[in-house]
Amino acid sequence: MESWYELADALAERGWGLLSNFLEAPTLEALHQEAQAFWEAGKLRPARIGHAGQEIRRKQTRGDFIHWWSPDTLSPAQERYWQQINALRVSLNRELFLGLEHFESHYAIYPPGTRYQRHVDRFQDSIERTISCVLYLNRDWSEPEGGQLRLYTDGGEDEVLPRMGTLMVFRSDVIEHEVLPATRHRFSVTGWLRRRPLTPVPVVHA
Ligand code: OGA
Ligand code: MN
Repeated sequence: MESWYELADALAERGWGLLSNFLEAPTLEALHQEAQAFWEAGKLRPARIGHAGQEIRRKQTRGDFIHWWSPDTLSPAQERYWQQINALRVSLNRELFLGLEHFESHYAIYPPGTRYQRHVDRFQDSIERTISCVLYLNRDWSEPEGGQLRLYTDGGEDEVLPRMGTLMVFRSDVIEHEVLPATRHRFSVTGWLRRRPLTPVPVVHA
């Protein structure tokens, strides 16, 4: 799909959708080069699973390496991506009344043979992560190279190849998904549109 309206419809109807023309080629290229440079400089760290001090590394469960973006010091290409995501955020709020307020993102690199087993993105103890956005940064990716994002929905299973410029968007709370192993390094920017944190309010009983 190409239009943001269609994407909003797809999110509402089946919980996921994708855009293939979300960013222009020079920005994609710059993001890829930046991720590659960070990787070569050893700046990516093994991703962990779990949350809030309970994180553990389990390579068989999740084998990617990540580098969080700092909102205060975005590179020009990162800045451009955030602008587009912000416009998408406003559009989704208008179409779907989602109340999305913030974005967070990191580079992710899966070395050959690594995977991320079936999971949902929303932490059990936090409802802030609402919409997952994954931008793929792999030139000339072909099916035999693997690395598909596999989605599990009521309608069955769907697979998306991590091709340069594809933006995959899905509900963080309900969509179960997994990353299949690939034969070459698999680059992406993974991010989450978040709702405002709701603080507990005292309940007064009559
Ligand atoms: C994740 C994830 C999907 C992908 O980082 O939580 O599921 O296709 N990524 O990289
Ligand atoms: Mn995920």
